[in-house]
Amino acid sequence: MSKTKKTETKKTTCVHPTAVVDEGALIGPGTKIWHFCHVMGGARIGKNCSIGQNAFIGGKAVLGDGVKLQNNVSVYDAVTLEDHVFVGPSAVFTNVRTPRAHVERKNAYAATLVRKGATIGANATIVCGIEIGSYAFIAAGAVVTRSVPRHAVMSGVPARRSGWACACGAMLPDRGKGGACPECGKSWTFKHVPDRET
Ligand SMILES: CC(C)(COP(=O)(O)OP(=O)(O)OC[C@H]1O[C@@H](n2cnc3c(N)ncnc32)[C@H](O)[C@@H]1OP(=O)(O)O)[C@@H](O)C(=O)NCCC(=O)NCCS
Repeated sequence: MSKTKKTETKKTTCVHPTAVVDEGALIGPGTKIWHFCHVMGGARIGKNCSIGQNAFIGGKAVLGDGVKLQNNVSVYDAVTLEDHVFVGPSAVFTNVRTPRAHVERKNAYAATLVRKGATIGANATIVCGIEIGSYAFIAAGAVVTRSVPRHAVMSGVPARRSGWACACGAMLPDRGKGGACPECGKSWTFKHVPDRET
């Protein structure tokens, strides 16, 4: 994540009047925080992000540059979203694997790392303690319980790999030796993805 400025730099960030940004949150220039969001002190948000309506960002959450959160997304402590991660509406992150109301587990957060350019589909759930590889694509409604290789498309409950995705978001053929992306034309050799079947 590039260096960010404090929230005091109000000229370059846009915080809707209904949003609450606690003192000590770091928000980069060009970032927009929409209606009814809550950003806790200590949260780090990069530049040119869009934080959709009703989002929550915990005090130990980290968002890189160009991150897009759609409405109703909570990014809890111990969750890190690298640059240009897209999170669809109502997707859910978690940070405790075995929560109990009567047991304090604030020192037992399991970290989740979402690598650059990845997409989390609408209403997906990310069980904590995993890494989602760069440009991976989590389908709408998937429940991700294990780490995900880069560029993998993961769908279902529990999520299984159902394909591969280009960095541009296009779905790629599941088998073969590679070729050109049907949308952006970028050429693929598939050596990028470690466990690709040929
Ligand atoms: C994952 C996704 C990209 C798949 O796209 P695709 O490869 O073009 O998929 P298709 O529509 O060709 O469907 C292929 C198969 O996957 C299934 N499928 C598609 N999306 C699925 C999903 N989210 N979960 C489970 N199965 C899914 C289809 O039913 C189909 O199954 P079938 O072959 O048995 O009929 C897409 O469906 C998706 O979930 N996109 C995310 C949308 C989103 O959340 N946007 C948020 C911002 S609005």
